[in-house]
Amino acid sequence: MAAHWHVLGAGAIGCLFATALARSGCTATLLLRERCGKSSRSVLVQRDGAITEVHTPVSATGDSGPITHLLVTTKAYDVRGAVGAVAHRLNSDTRLLLLVNGMGLIEELHNDFPNLDIYNSTTTEGAYRIAPLHICHAGTGLTRIGKPGQTRPALWFDQWSRAMSSCVWDANIDSALWLKLAINCAINPLTAVHGCRNGDLARRPELAMEVCRLCDEIAAISRAAGYMSTAAGLEQAVTDVIAGTANNRSSMLQDVQNRHRTEIDYITGYLLAVARRHGIEAPHNKSLFERVHKLEP
Ligand code: PAF
Repeated sequence: MAAHWHVLGAGAIGCLFATALARSGCTATLLLRERCGKSSRSVLVQRDGAITEVHTPVSATGDSGPITHLLVTTKAYDVRGAVGAVAHRLNSDTRLLLLVNGMGLIEELHNDFPNLDIYNSTTTEGAYRIAPLHICHAGTGLTRIGKPGQTRPALWFDQWSRAMSSCVWDANIDSALWLKLAINCAINPLTAVHGCRNGDLARRPELAMEVCRLCDEIAAISRAAGYMSTAAGLEQAVTDVIAGTANNRSSMLQDVQNRHRTEIDYITGYLLAVARRHGIEAPHNKSLFERVHKLEP
């Protein structure tokens, strides 16, 4: 029987996955902070100029009724509070799938909810919000899902591989998350501090030099933490992402420009915590971490 997913975080990625799961035969309910007086809302998904309307069940976080499968797509700093808001609906059978930026949240969730069965994921699907519950699916990408040490896909995974055009079970999900974190550490804070697009990190020599210094530190921390392939290929991976997203404003730059809190604590903050554990100094990353914090409201 197809699982019933509840999706916490009705932003671009939450709406994208909720509608994809619904189209593949699952029930996918969007969890909203406030009661809206309706049992479903229409979610608009724009793709290549065409708009698809998907009638999607909604439920307020404060409602009752058990949640068996929970997908969390909030901002990293909202995860604990958001999961806390539905804690009364979770039980020891609930599977929680985390799809957020940064690292360190699994540990925090395990502390808060020791009985939850938690999975992690990362995606390169491109989506952005046009208006509330109206998104643009800008590009297809690869979604990796896994749980460290679990080589066989979870029973519910089959449905996900049908819902998304490209979705794999990754027994080394931590390595995939670390690589994404390392790339984000080299790009996001620098673009946020300099108010520039990703491509400027290659175009402006002084910024390109700073990217190299950041990569050197991140590679040393990666090696110490056992992420050898990230350490070896980091500079090339960062160069490729900068070239492939040259015209983009990074998510951290957008947060700063919108006067929102950033995810720096879960990106560079996590990297610095790992560096400290291994006795590694990372002055360039540390300085950016502090400068981004100063830009936050
Ligand atoms: O966080 C982001 O904005 C993206 O992951 C990336 C690719 C670093 C920049 O657009």
